[in-house]
Amino acid sequence: MQPDESIFSVNETLKTIKERRSIRFFAKEEISDEQINILLQAANEAPSAHNQQSWRFIVLKGQKKLGLAELVAEGASRFSRPAQALLRMAARSIVSAPVVIAVANSGELIDHGTELFKVEKEMARDFFRTMEIQSSAAAVQNLLLAATSLGLASVWLGIMFLMKDEVLAFLGEPAGEFMAVVPVGHATRESGSGPQKEPFEMKVKYLD
Ligand SMILES: Cc1cc2nc3c(=O)[nH]c(=O)nc-3n(C[C@H](O)[C@H](O)[C@H](O)COP(=O)(O)O)c2cc1C
Repeated sequence: MQPDESIFSVNETLKTIKERRSIRFFAKEEISDEQINILLQAANEAPSAHNQQSWRFIVLKGQKKLGLAELVAEGASRFSRPAQALLRMAARSIVSAPVVIAVANSGELIDHGTELFKVEKEMARDFFRTMEIQSSAAAVQNLLLAATSLGLASVWLGIMFLMKDEVLAFLGEPAGEFMAVVPVGHATRESGSGPQKEPFEMKVKYLD
C-alpha cells in the first residue's frame, strides 16, 4: 500500500519529518555559526528521563574534524567487511561535511540512578543506561529535524561505536558513552531520495 503523502503537508513539522533523509556527502559550502547554534539548541530541547539532560554535544570543525576522520579511517583496517567499508564511508562523510556534531552521554543518570530508585544495582544500571540512550536519541533526532528544517543535510553515524573508546578519548569525553556522530552541511545535487519506508500498517497493532 502506498503511504498517504498528503498527511505530510498538514503542517511544517510533518513536512520536515517527511523530508529528513540521511545524506552522507556534502557540497563545499560552509554553514554559519548561527545555524550550528540553532541545531544545538533544538537538540537540547529534547525530552530526557528524569529531566537529566545528560547529553553532551561536541562540535568539530577544521583540523579537529579532519583528525577524527583520520582516526576512523586508520582504525577501519582493524575490522573486516562490512564494518571496514562503513567506517571508511563514515570517515569520508566527516571529511566532506563543513561541521560535525558528536553526541555523547555523560553517564550522570546512570551514576545517580541507584540512589534515586531503590532497585537492585544491576537492574538500576541497565534501566538508567537505557533511559540515557533513549534521551540522547531524542536529542539526535531533534538535531536532524532542525537541520532539515534549515535546508541542511545530515546523517546519524553510529558505526564508530566499534571504536568508541578511541573516539570518546579524541572527543575529550573519555568517561562518556558514544551516541552518534552527525556530519552536517549542504546536500550535493546528486543526493538521492533515500530508501523507502515500509508501510506503517506493518508495524502497528491496535489493542481495543
Ligand atoms: C542509530 C543509527 C545509526 C546509524 N548509523 C549509520 C552509520 O554508521 N552509517 C551510515 O551511513 N548511516 C547510518 N545511519 C543512517 C541509516 O542508514 C538511515 O537512517 C537509514 O538507511 C534510513 O534512511 P533515511 O535516514 O534516509 O530515512 C544510522 C541511523 C541510525 C538511526
